[in-house]
Formats: sequence, C-alpha cells, structure tokens
Amino acid sequence: MTEVAAEKHHLIAPHGGYLVDRTGPRPHNADSLEQVPLTSRELSDLDMLASGALSPLEGFMGRDDYERVLEEMRLAKGIPWALPVCLAVDHEPQGDEVTLTDEAGKPFAVLEVDEVYEYDKEREARNAFRTTDEAHPGVARLYAQKPLYIAGKVTVFERAQPAFPELALDPVETRAAFTERGWKRVVGFQTRNPIHRAHEYLTKGALETVDGLLIHPLVGDTKSDDVPASTRVECYRVLLENYYPENRVVLSAFPAAMRYAGPREAIWHAICRKNYGCSHFIVGRDHAGVGDYYGTYDAQLIFDEFEPHELDIEPMFFEHAFWCKVCAQMATPKTCPHGGDDHVFLSGTKVRELLSNGELPPVEFSRPEVAEVLIKAYRG
Ligand code: ADX
Repeated sequence: MTEVAAEKHHLIAPHGGYLVDRTGPRPHNADSLEQVPLTSRELSDLDMLASGALSPLEGFMGRDDYERVLEEMRLAKGIPWALPVCLAVDHEPQGDEVTLTDEAGKPFAVLEVDEVYEYDKEREARNAFRTTDEAHPGVARLYAQKPLYIAGKVTVFERAQPAFPELALDPVETRAAFTERGWKRVVGFQTRNPIHRAHEYLTKGALETVDGLLIHPLVGDTKSDDVPASTRVECYRVLLENYYPENRVVLSAFPAAMRYAGPREAIWHAICRKNYGCSHFIVGRDHAGVGDYYGTYDAQLIFDEFEPHELDIEPMFFEHAFWCKVCAQMATPKTCPHGGDDHVFLSGTKVRELLSNGELPPVEFSRPEVAEVLIKAYRG
C-alpha cells in the first residue's frame, strides 16, 4: 500500500462504503433520445449524483427507495437516507433511455429508465417536511412539480457550470485536500447565511476538538429573501482572511438546493458531508428550518432515530448561541447563567433594517468586515 493510499484510509468511508462516480463519456445517441428538462433544483441533484456527493445513490430514486425513505428514513437496502432525490416528469417517455437537459435544452446526462411512477405530493410533504402547508417554501416547490417520478441510473457527460469555480470541490477533491493536510477528523459546517458571531462560535468550538474545518456553504437554490450566494461568498472570504487560521480551514461551495426540511434535511446534510470526507457535522438551532415549522432542536433530536454509529458521521450539537454582556463572550444557555436582557439577540428583520440604513450591526453580532460587505450589497 502506498503512503497516500494508507493516509486515505484515515478519512471516514463514504456513505454505503464507496464513492459513486456517475460521470462518463457522451453516448453517440445522446442527441436522438427524448429529452427531459430539469429544474435548477433537479440539475443540482444531478450534478451531486455525478460527483458522488449523494453516494450510494447512482441515479434518481425508484419507488422502493422513495417509499422506504418517506416511511422509515432508509433506502430499500436499509441504509439511512432522509430525503427523496427524485426527478419529476409529466409523461412516461417512449424509449428506455432519455437525455436530461437544463430548461434551455442543453444536454447534461443520459438516464436509463427503470420505472415511472405516480406519487402523492401531500404525503411526501407530510413525511419529508412535517407539514402540508403550501406557504412552506419546500412544500410549495413540491406542489408545483410535474406529476410523475422517473427513476434510473444517470451517466453525466457534461458537468454543471459551478457558480463559484474556485470554490467547486467534488468529494474526491475535498478528501484529497484533507489528506494533504494530514487531517483525519474534519467537521463540516453547512450554512445558507453570512457567517455571524454565533456561527463563528460554533465552528471554532467544534474545530477545537478535531483536526480541520470544512466551511461548506450551500450555493444552490435558496428562497428569495435569503442573502444571495455571491454576497455570502464575499463575506466568507473577508471573515476567513481576518479571523480563521488558514491551515485549519477549507472553504468550498456545497452545490445543493435548500429544501428547508429542517430535521430530515439535517440528516441529509450530514450524510452528504460524510461523502465529502467529514467525520463530524455541526447541527445548531433550527438547522435548515424556516418560519415556525420546526422546534428549535428537532434537527438534533432526529439523530436519535438512528442506532449509534449507524450514520458514522458524528453530529456536534450546539444550543442557541449569543453574545452575553456579563460574560463578555459568546455563550449558550448551556454555558451562561445570565438572563435574556444580558444577551445580544437581533432578529433577521432587525439586521436587514440596520444594514439597509447603512448601519453596522453591533460587533457582538457580526464582525465589522462582514457587516461592511452586507451593507454594500444592501445599498446596491
Ligand atoms: S441553515 O439553513 O443552513 O441551517 P444557517 O445558515 O442559519 O441556516 O445555520 C447554519 C448552522 O448554524 C445550522 O447548523 C444552524 O443550526 C446553526 N445556527 C445558526 N444560528 C445559530 C445560533 N444563533 N445558535 C446556534 N446555532 C446556530
């Protein structure tokens, strides 16, 4: 065994045991097959199937996987999996292969059609999102989908153009980056926001006990009032430059679309990060939540539904973090004895209001360099 191969064995194994690679050459018949156009969410899923980020999935889910995932949070063969990864179509195609394109008709992949099946949107909403309310952004997206699912293995011959090419690392590349740095225990951090002091506290607290930190902001579709990824990436850069040790952090973009499925999405996020080589994953307050649909710690409690070590990746739970004026430091209810008035807490609305007036939020809430980037973005 070479030294590199030996080192690779230090990293956590991908979900299901091996990293899937669904990339391949463009087949000769790709232009003559029936075309199936994908939404941007489906395209980002396709690209993650290609790279192995969704290992052990090799394509869009068939009915057996879909059913068991909805009912038991497992794939048909028993491996934990929390959310459907499905492709919606409006009719059953003729042939046994189809070409998957973007909405403009550009081809990306071929899918070997295994089956086409009906699904119940309300049931999927109830099980995956814990609500059937169409005001929920994930449920609204589901209800707007075409009525049938088409399933089968994909072969991706054209990778999606990454939004941030310099931050685009496939699982095989993040794994190589960790190995190169000699890291074995790596904590992954999911975010769809600029990194404020609370996020910084979590990531640094977690990093204290492992070798390295993967800051892995989601850059696929988010809802319109979330801070756009391009602004966030600028925030991440200034923050890392000024406040994180370079040799302990890898910043890379997670190409997935947000589902806003709270607890189930926390499991799904963790499994994906395991494929990227993370041994640990941060889950704080209301992870992947939206509005009041989920309890503050539901996304932590759901990890108890699996046997210890079944997921292999270790969740690192954090309670609601804030700045405490008396402690004069970041803290959580777990570590701070003081009362609510001593804590600096700003709602998202309040922060947006300050930023759009050109006012810096307090340093206890956000690093000034990050706030400056946001003010610039808010004022256009
Ligand atoms: S998420 O949709 O990606 O989960 P966000 O970017 O706000 O949203 O959160 C990223 C991670 O930080 C999640 O694990 C979330 O639970 C955690 N988090 C965010 N804010 C806090 C906070 N004040 N205290 C504790 N955890 C937090």
